[in-house]
Amino acid sequence: MAAAEALTPGKALDLGCGYGRTAIWLAQHGWQVDGVDFVPEAIAEAARRAQAAGAAGRARFHTGSVAELDFLDGRYDLAVDVGCLHALTPGQLRRYHAGLKRLLSPGALYLLYTRLQEDTPEPETEGPPGVPQEAITHLFQDGFTLDKLEIGVTEMPDRPPWKSAWFWFHRVQ
Ligand SMILES: C[S@@+](CC[C@H](N)C(=O)[O-])C[C@H]1O[C@@H](n2cnc3c(N)ncnc32)[C@H](O)[C@@H]1O
Repeated sequence: MAAAEALTPGKALDLGCGYGRTAIWLAQHGWQVDGVDFVPEAIAEAARRAQAAGAAGRARFHTGSVAELDFLDGRYDLAVDVGCLHALTPGQLRRYHAGLKRLLSPGALYLLYTRLQEDTPEPETEGPPGVPQEAITHLFQDGFTLDKLEIGVTEMPDRPPWKSAWFWFHRVQ
């Protein structure tokens, strides 16, 4: 939120938007947002919540995969992924990266929150396995610079904590 507030509102992309909480917040702060999620029920609920929040004019929601972003066009100034990337297969991740390269304007900010692979992975864990940090930094060397990396631990009620990180990338030519 602080990162977005420091920017002049423009076009934003919410990858794996779920019920639209990030997209709706951005729309309420002047951004024109496209949210993408492959669960139709989530997209319907996001659209309903945007309507209820008076943000429907600025937030559009699309049922589709973040690995197949060909249906989107135009240059985005901001992309946000809160908890989607770690669900992708390696092939999907490569197509996701290619889509972001195409869609983001030079200088655009790409904010990624993801689960990271543990230093000593447990064989049985809940939820998607974490992504190796190096896999992300290596892939996004192509077309992006890493400005900041905040590694921490995500804690939720009734679940074991997991290693996670916020990556702050900028799109470069
Ligand atoms: C942990 S939820 C986070 C939802 C939302 N970003 C939030 O913070 O509330 C992850 C979301 O990513 C979506 N997702 C996972 N893989 C996807 C894919 N390949 N294409 C589109 N959405 C995907 C899921 O349907 C889910 O809504």
